[in-house]
Amino acid sequence: MPRSQTHPLHRHETLRFPKDFLWGAATSSHQVEGWNEHNDWWEWEKRVGSIARGERSGRSADHYHHYEHDFDLAKQLNLGAYRLSLEWSRLEPHKNGWDRHEVEHYQNVLCALKARGFKVMLTLMHFTLPQWVAEEGGWENLATVKYFERYAEFAVKNFGPYVDFWVTVNEPLIAVTLGYLRGRWPPGKKSLLGAFQTFLNLTRAHKRVYHLIHQLLDKEKRSAVMKIMGVGGKRGAVCVVRPPRQVQVGVAHNIVSVSAYRKHSLVDSLFARLSDFLWNHLFISMTRRTHDFLGVNYYFHQRLKREKGKFFRSLVDVYREETRETSDIGWEIFPQGISEALLDLSAEYPKIPIYITENGIATVNDDKRSRFIVSYIKEIYHAIQAGVDVRGYFYWSLIDNFEWEKGFSPRFGLIEIDYKTLRRRVRPAARVYAAIAKENGLPHELLRFIGHGVAPTEFL
Ligand code: BGC
Repeated sequence: MPRSQTHPLHRHETLRFPKDFLWGAATSSHQVEGWNEHNDWWEWEKRVGSIARGERSGRSADHYHHYEHDFDLAKQLNLGAYRLSLEWSRLEPHKNGWDRHEVEHYQNVLCALKARGFKVMLTLMHFTLPQWVAEEGGWENLATVKYFERYAEFAVKNFGPYVDFWVTVNEPLIAVTLGYLRGRWPPGKKSLLGAFQTFLNLTRAHKRVYHLIHQLLDKEKRSAVMKIMGVGGKRGAVCVVRPPRQVQVGVAHNIVSVSAYRKHSLVDSLFARLSDFLWNHLFISMTRRTHDFLGVNYYFHQRLKREKGKFFRSLVDVYREETRETSDIGWEIFPQGISEALLDLSAEYPKIPIYITENGIATVNDDKRSRFIVSYIKEIYHAIQAGVDVRGYFYWSLIDNFEWEKGFSPRFGLIEIDYKTLRRRVRPAARVYAAIAKENGLPHELLRFIGHGVAPTEFL
């Protein structure tokens, strides 16, 4: 038997991903579109001290007007899937006041994706709420669940045929933690009760919208909805859309790989267990049977240790391995974390397919970004070999964007944005990712480069 068949890392061998694996990139409305004047973040950004260097999202990358160009670039990078979010506050800027112009805008955006052959993953809520919803109490208010359901129905009726995957809510636990426990995001609260209500309402919202989307779009029922939409006949939109055979609905969940700081400490291990349950399993187990796929946003590895008298802090304070590299915003680079997290998830929910709905790095050092991409994807490959049903990977983010309270300085993009001129520049790491997408796997030359630190020039 030739050696190449016995050893997966043999020269010229590519680590192949399953057929039909989706290679994609992601963005969210408020972070890239610009001028989202009717949401709670827009208001929040006006407060002194809320955003680094007093920045505001403003026109951001002006993706609202550049989406076709951005999608062309994504296509040139051999990507086959794209994750984006709808901005609820554009569609319903005032209570019950739907904006037809914005409906047409998003139809054109989705149509532009379909015309380029992308599978579309659409998020209904990526952290932002219309200001009128926030003024009525936001997610603490049970009525928001009803408003969200109404908005979801509106979205399904207007955009249904363009969408392959629906994400109801992005990272519910991050919204709860930063908005209601740490007070760093809107509504800026530190309230256990508020956090609890918000968490419960987000679980309700997800469950209801999951069933709603299926009710409206499952094959046998959808002909009535399609008539309402008048598929293919929209003004300005030139694409033929064939609704997906099977509608798929899930959440994009922030999954954290957790371990004990002191490996042999029972109490640290208990904290790690508890943190793992709270971050990774609580939301999914409270919304059981409403996930057609598990969306995994993976960024963090946590090493936890108990600190006397600081129960909550012990659950969230992270102890870094000092020798490990970090991103420009101090997040530890720990590729094994992603395979560990995937193995754990699939052991718990063996029948649910997984999509990596976000994974990426904020850095201006593109060699680092290239190594990050290769080493994380290699870990995903190993998880798949070990039996985990991972079906797609969306790099965060396609373009540089407004990174919430950190403003514009973190650079996550495959494509660099010059915020003065709005010029787009494809970064070298994007070419590395494009090669992976083209090969549907990791060419051996790229694997070698993880160790050597400089990407081979043919990929740049
Ligand atoms: C969020 C994105 C964010 C990214 C990097 C994810 O938690 O969904 O909106 O930009 O992480 O922080």
